[in-house]
Amino acid sequence: MSFFTIEQAPARLNRSELAVPGSQPDMFEKAAASAADVIFLDLEDAVAPDEKDQARKNIIAALNDIDWGSKTMSVRINGLDTHYMYRDVVDVVEQAGARLDLIMIPKVGTAADVYALDMLVTQIETAKGYGRRIGFEHIIETALGMQNVHDIASASKRNESLHFGVADYAASTRARTTIIGGVNPDYAVLTDPVQDGSREVHWGDMWHYALARMIVAARANGLRPVDGPFGDFKDPDGYRAAARRAAVLGCEGKWAIHPSQIALANEVMSPSDAEVTKARRILEAMAAAATAGKGAVSLDGRLIDYASIRQAEVLVAKASQISD
Ligand code: GLV
Ligand code: MG
Repeated sequence: MSFFTIEQAPARLNRSELAVPGSQPDMFEKAAASAADVIFLDLEDAVAPDEKDQARKNIIAALNDIDWGSKTMSVRINGLDTHYMYRDVVDVVEQAGARLDLIMIPKVGTAADVYALDMLVTQIETAKGYGRRIGFEHIIETALGMQNVHDIASASKRNESLHFGVADYAASTRARTTIIGGVNPDYAVLTDPVQDGSREVHWGDMWHYALARMIVAARANGLRPVDGPFGDFKDPDGYRAAARRAAVLGCEGKWAIHPSQIALANEVMSPSDAEVTKARRILEAMAAAATAGKGAVSLDGRLIDYASIRQAEVLVAKASQISD
């Protein structure tokens, strides 16, 4: 292990993150009653320019008046390049900051973006005397943001998570996409011809590099990596496949842009009973090995060591968060 200690962001469940447009208050109660771990009330791309003021008011009222239970509440503000952003931050944090856990920052490009926002939020929190710190979740969704992802990830103590915003990322990098978060059949390899000359097309995941790069930046800074939207909400299998790819690489959660995607995200991003049982057995076996003065033991014919303990501890901690 490095001598450098990675400070971990507060441990929040972030399996599903539901997007709710701030301009559609009729959706708020249903969102509050849903099984989403995190909800972000949107002031950015789901809200038309002439609805921004009203959406802000709706969100302030909703944060103060609706019983959101134990949900983690976030607000997606407008980008730092717009004239909406300062009012999003000032009005929402001043008037509803007591029930706000996170601010979601879209299209973050540089560490200086994060610094600027940190300064503003710090002033408001101090002036209002809030006893706790609002966290930041950043959407990595531009080429600039991806280029600077490591600096962004370490730019503030408020940082909690990085999110892969595949729709805007595709636009920014001019990637050739079909549906939001889906894959493109052109991103494929041909197998070598077999005897009859036939070849197979193996599709690849065109988002692999971007997602993996963001995950490394997140984990190296103690943040949660979260996969962004999957646009076709009538395709649960496509959603599950995308979520599983993200989970395999290390993501803790995925966005739901439709309520039907919440259960899918929770399902894919929760450890299975078998995984949790196995993790508990690993911890028991390692505890027994430690008592016997051994550093590694075998369980079910496989070697387990201190790295296995760390993985097992993460799984067991996640399982107890879910059951709480
Ligand atoms: C999310 O904001 C995205 O652009 O995918
Ligand atoms: Mg976006």
